[in-house]
Amino acid sequence: MGHTLKWGTPPPKRPSLRLFQLLVLAGLFYFCSGIMQVTKTVKEIAVLSCDYNISTEELTKVRIYWQKDNEMVLAVMSGKVKVWPEYENRTFTDFTSNLCIVILALRLSDKGTYTCVIQKPEQGTYRLEHLTSVKLLVRADFPAPSISDLGNPSPDIRRIICSTSGGFPEPHLSWLENGEELNATYTTLAQDPETELYTISSELDFNVTRNHSFMCLVKYGDLTVSQTFNWQKSAKPAPSANQLLPWAIIIPISASLIIALILGLAWLFCRLAARQRERRRNEESLEMERLSPVCIGRVEGSG
Ligand SMILES: *[C@@H]1O[C@H](CO)[C@@H](O)[C@H](O)[C@H]1NC(C)=O
Ligand SMILES: *[C@@H]1O[C@H](CO)[C@@H](O)[C@H](O)[C@H]1NC(C)=O
Ligand SMILES: *[C@@H]1O[C@H](CO)[C@@H](O)[C@H](O)[C@H]1NC(C)=O
Ligand SMILES: *[C@@H]1O[C@H](CO)[C@@H](O)[C@H](O)[C@H]1NC(C)=O
Ligand SMILES: *[C@@H]1O[C@H](CO)[C@@H](O)[C@H](O)[C@H]1NC(C)=O
Repeated sequence: MGHTLKWGTPPPKRPSLRLFQLLVLAGLFYFCSGIMQVTKTVKEIAVLSCDYNISTEELTKVRIYWQKDNEMVLAVMSGKVKVWPEYENRTFTDFTSNLCIVILALRLSDKGTYTCVIQKPEQGTYRLEHLTSVKLLVRADFPAPSISDLGNPSPDIRRIICSTSGGFPEPHLSWLENGEELNATYTTLAQDPETELYTISSELDFNVTRNHSFMCLVKYGDLTVSQTFNWQKSAKPAPSANQLLPWAIIIPISASLIIALILGLAWLFCRLAARQRERRRNEESLEMERLSPVCIGRVEGSG
């Protein structure tokens, strides 16, 4: 592109410009009809069309203003682009397509009616050439809240927390059980000063000795999001009974096994001892038998 465009250049503090802006704003009241509407959510990109094309040569001659409600957003004069601080570094124009402005990282505060004004030089002054308004809606929806378990602050009592964030306008949280509102233990609400988005969380304590079905309801504007949490009363003595059960089996079984082992060993020992005794008795009698003839023979031979 031939023309030079600079971003973030300081605003020229000329009184004529200020007067000019006022004239432009005054002109708007006569031309606000058939407004286009663009709906986006926070952090998205909005592309707002001026619905007008211009050649590169013309660009250095015309004046282009983008305004939001009564504030300046962007101006192009002598082919130079100036962006006002709130839009600095996140807003640019597309000269090749309908003189659009593109706003990045949308904020809630960006919602409003944007007007594009094009003026052409004519006999030493500027004449209104084109005017378009676009209404930008910026939504910030809360996601469905999440409920998590914070454990037992005391026996029989369980604490849960419900939270959601990133929405607008200001939310209101309530806990319901069977359609009846409950008292939350502790509720916090915070707003991000930069994004204006809210975060809400609420803690609820309940008695674990009953079944429960809680609903965490978050209302903001005319919208609501909710989450339910079901609690089933557990049979409390069951875990201890389950823990006792293995020992009730293990102890008698091991005792019986030990007794059986002792008895078995005793029996084996007795058997071995008996066999030993028997063998010794047999050996003794054999010896007797072997010795006897010799003795007799000797006796006979010598005799
Ligand atoms: C401007 O130019 C773009 C792309 O060249 C085209 O799509 C669009 O229709 C034009 N707009 C007008 C108002 O002529
Ligand atoms: C825009 O970016 C420039 C350069 O990174 C920085 O110096 C300036 O502070 C930024 N302006 C805003 C409003 O963030
Ligand atoms: C909630 O709090 C109010 C006032 O502190 C009290 O009157 C009411 O009984 C409480 N409700 C429950 C369900 O505890
Ligand atoms: C929980 O409920 C049981 C039965 O209704 C009651 O006996 C007990 O006192 C309650 N515990 C607490 C801490 O409120
Ligand atoms: C609690 O819920 C369990 C499982 O749904 C059910 O078996 C039990 O009967 C319920 N107890 C009461 C008191 O409602």
